[in-house]
Amino acid sequence: MEQKAATATASPNIAFVKYWGKRDERLILPYNSSISMTLDDSLNTVTSVLFSKELQNDRFFINGEEQELADKETAERFGVVGILRRMAGNGEHALVVSRNSFPTASGLASSASGTAALVFACSKALGLEMKARELSIVARQGSGSSCRSMFGGIVMWKRGRKEDGTDSYARRIASERQWPDLVDVIAIVSTERKRVLSRSGMRQTVESSALYKARTKFAESNAKEMIKAVKTKDFAGMAGIIMRESNDMHAVMLDTFPPIFYLNDSSKEIMAAIHELNGSMGKIVAAYTFDAGPNAHIITLRENEAAVREALRKVQGIKEVKTAGIGSGPKTLPESDSLIDAGRLMPKS
Ligand code: DP6
Repeated sequence: MEQKAATATASPNIAFVKYWGKRDERLILPYNSSISMTLDDSLNTVTSVLFSKELQNDRFFINGEEQELADKETAERFGVVGILRRMAGNGEHALVVSRNSFPTASGLASSASGTAALVFACSKALGLEMKARELSIVARQGSGSSCRSMFGGIVMWKRGRKEDGTDSYARRIASERQWPDLVDVIAIVSTERKRVLSRSGMRQTVESSALYKARTKFAESNAKEMIKAVKTKDFAGMAGIIMRESNDMHAVMLDTFPPIFYLNDSSKEIMAAIHELNGSMGKIVAAYTFDAGPNAHIITLRENEAAVREALRKVQGIKEVKTAGIGSGPKTLPESDSLIDAGRLMPKS
């Protein structure tokens, strides 16, 4: 029996300049460019894909649970499999088995690493020889932020201008070797699933926030400044933009009607603790940033990790603190790491 299979791993990315709002919902084209750091494999998604004539339909398992492919959100994300299947001229169904090393949908960007690993594994299983930029265009159509996880280091997702999205892709602006000591100290204050998913949340913001127009201009100019700071190794410059970007995105979330709140009291205490730390050090040594959830990402240099952890100790409600370094992007894994039992066409138990 002929089977096309591959296993890949990808990591989440944490945005320094945020993506929040689509100018094209179907192709997932953003209003502004965004920039992120890809994390190392201390947080990761492993995904195995197998295409086979023996399969009666597509099946998708995450962390042992079968996903409902009739569900709109899941179908939209799974759409990348269809795109790659068409590119390869393959008509077989797919079995996809995925495992996250961290809580799903809690603001730790599981959709980014999940979609990036899915696209990477599918392209390999189908024998498609694709460059990372082309893979980023496919990943973007499953989940916008995932296109930035197709590269390691510090990565920009260019907004692009074309209607067909061919100029809206990710590219690396600095390799992990240029910023080897950059870390993300993650303070987990909640592992609950988010109440408002980013997909519908950002749609509501675009539709109802009067401040949103100003946000897209601010973000685009922040992206330009961020590139300069990254290239000149200006940590304080980067950190200032990171914090303002997070605050600005959460401000338009609040300006959405009805308002969307992702931050909780612990998140706000963490923001104050980081400003206090920077004040006491007499320079900016750390920056907080939050995605669509209350968990904090504190971006700092390895030499200041201990000071950041100490500052977090005073905050109420932190359940766990973990540090991720800067990562090198998706990788294929050997067959022995496959999550699929190819004989039974089922996830390995
Ligand atoms: C808040 O990529 O999850 O993390 O494109 O609808 O799948 P969809 O949204 P998603 O958006 C996440 C946005 C963010 C900020 C960011 O990562 O830039």
